[in-house]
Amino acid sequence: MTGRLLAGSRVVRRTLVLGAVAALATGLAVAGTPRANAAADTLGAAAAQTGRYFGTAISASKLGDPVYTAIAGREFTMVTPENEMKLDATEPRQGVFNFGPGDRVYDWAAQNGKQVRGHTLLWHSGQPQWLQNLSGSALRQAMIDHIDGVMAHYKGKIYAWDVVNEAFADGTGGRRNSNFQRTGDDWIEHAFRAARAADPAAKLCYNDYNIENWTSAKTQSVYTMVKDFRSRGVPIDCVGIQAHFTSGNPYPGDFRTTLRNFAALGVDVQITELDIQGAPPATYADVVTDCLTVPRCTGVTVWGVRDTDSWRSGDTPLLFDGDGDKKPAYTAVLDALNAAVPGPSPSPTPSPAGSCTATLSAGAKWPDRYNLGVTVTGSDDWIVTMTVPRPAKIIATWNVSARWNPTTNVMTARPDGHGDSWGVTIKHHGNRTWPTVSCRHA
Ligand code: G3I
Repeated sequence: MTGRLLAGSRVVRRTLVLGAVAALATGLAVAGTPRANAAADTLGAAAAQTGRYFGTAISASKLGDPVYTAIAGREFTMVTPENEMKLDATEPRQGVFNFGPGDRVYDWAAQNGKQVRGHTLLWHSGQPQWLQNLSGSALRQAMIDHIDGVMAHYKGKIYAWDVVNEAFADGTGGRRNSNFQRTGDDWIEHAFRAARAADPAAKLCYNDYNIENWTSAKTQSVYTMVKDFRSRGVPIDCVGIQAHFTSGNPYPGDFRTTLRNFAALGVDVQITELDIQGAPPATYADVVTDCLTVPRCTGVTVWGVRDTDSWRSGDTPLLFDGDGDKKPAYTAVLDALNAAVPGPSPSPTPSPAGSCTATLSAGAKWPDRYNLGVTVTGSDDWIVTMTVPRPAKIIATWNVSARWNPTTNVMTARPDGHGDSWGVTIKHHGNRTWPTVSCRHA
């Protein structure tokens, strides 16, 4: 039984005797008995013990602030650029892309072992003037060109893209009146199809606010759209629920129902921009616990690091105060995450490509590494792409032929004659967030 890893362009063959546990015992550092999870002391580590991420919005302009970067570096495993990947930032003139600010956030995240959510490709807000001046087919083409240009630049590097942001209206739940909407109802599905073609490895999300309350008209409209997309094969992998809670828009008691019902459509759900006016600890804990109880709720992102970094700093809605000290809400969230250990893990990560599915399952764990099983369905001749969150690395495989790209931290795997169940050993270097996988026919 042979597993092989390609380092760069060079094939490295490594004999793995009867699976990774044997391989660890024979060829690599000492592997002890798998151990139970202990309480973790950071948000990211605690979430990772349930197979989830815990993220924050990051501003490029604050990366020179050592207090900011110390907290962000220590606590979070997922990063969303707060403004740097928006349309006005990335394509300030038609066809002229500027990835400087987005790359600063991306590079900081990658260098610090974090994954990145791309935010956002198409939004009615934050549009440059040239785009606002377009309409009809010219605007449609510009929308697709924008998706192609930005996603090509970040191809293979993004965990999930908010392909479309906030396309529904408050109140009635109809589509929001925007220049995009005026190009025709089908602009959203065209955006998702273009996004899938541009980067098949990225999860593709629809992201919105005021869709936390299951009974609201807006939630129902988004749900109906996602259900329709799933039934017609429009490529959508996830729904981002922003969760900006205030006294006027409070945390609803049926939030868990909303998460569960979206997940039942076959998509992941993610809490993407969490902040709560006044940061009440109990509410923060409830939101996080809601996510932990839904297997396909794959992670939570808070919308900023300290209260003073918040887009609504007067509401002091975050987990760290202006001095960078942990607030009571921080402790409540950490406790809620640790209470879930060894609670439910996110369900199998499906293939965004849809043609075949690669399913991850937990294997043995050691202090410095862990095993994942992979099962592929839907194809006999498949190509699975596995993106590993830095600084974690795949150090062994079994029952599969694999090529490892150290630049992108991505492994490409093909059948090696041992069937469709195989596995990897990941040395986590402190980052226990599971890799993402996608599957396509060879
Ligand atoms: O950086 C410039 C600065 O140079 C300039 O002097 C100043 C004067 O206006 O503006 C600064 O840019 C501001 C930017 O935030 C950075 O602070 C923009 O004006 C301001 O519009 C922008 O606001 C952002 C807002 O989206 C609009 O894009 C917020 O930071 C950001 O938190 C907020 O995030 C949104 C999500 O993307 C979508 N969901 C809602 C959420 C909250 O509104």
